[in-house]
Amino acid sequence: MLVSPSMLAADFTNLGKDIEMINNSDADMLHLDVMDGVFVPNISFGFPVLKQVSEICRKPLDVHLMIVEPEKWISQVRDIGADMMNIHQEACLHLYSTISHIHEAGMKAGVTLCPATPVSTLTDIISDLDMVLLMSVEPGFGGQKFIPHTPEKVRQLRKLISESGSRALIEIDGGVNAKTAPNLAEAGADILVAGSYVFGSDNPQQAISSLKAL
Ligand code: DX5
Ligand code: ZN
Repeated sequence: MLVSPSMLAADFTNLGKDIEMINNSDADMLHLDVMDGVFVPNISFGFPVLKQVSEICRKPLDVHLMIVEPEKWISQVRDIGADMMNIHQEACLHLYSTISHIHEAGMKAGVTLCPATPVSTLTDIISDLDMVLLMSVEPGFGGQKFIPHTPEKVRQLRKLISESGSRALIEIDGGVNAKTAPNLAEAGADILVAGSYVFGSDNPQQAISSLKAL
């Protein structure tokens, strides 16, 4: 399993320390949640913060934009050296051209689906994607309760990906912990995002390793 700890749950008064913990952990990437207070009812952090994080983080950056019109921010995401740019299907009117522009900017492209958005909405674009990020909570806040339908949705997406021959990886975000993660692994998830489970743990590096072992 690949693991992408979410910085949203880090200690912002000691961010350098938490990034160093991630650098020295088994994490495969760092998940960065950008919120605009419009697409979601919360505001997190923006590009000046991400720029400084990118300068000290040695893991690939997995950017999850919870913002309207994400197509306007492709160059800013590229400029922080992001490996992966995830945009919400519900926030982007012209997915096909936006995905092409993300690729032209040299990044991997992912589409994120809110819990109520069906997997079938991606049927005509799945071959162009490097990742699909399934939300297992409503986007906007850490520490929410996992929506139990998610493993079923992972199975539907796994089927779509194998039938289409797509290379897309399946990433899950929200309420991932020791209890919910095994079912996601069994259903075919490739990457688990974890915020409060990792940063709320007495031993965050051990929490990361335990997810990795699934
Ligand atoms: C929520 C964010 C998540 C969040 C997950 O909108 O996309 O990445 O940090 O937090 P936990 O793991 O605490 O549910
Ligand atoms: Zn996220």
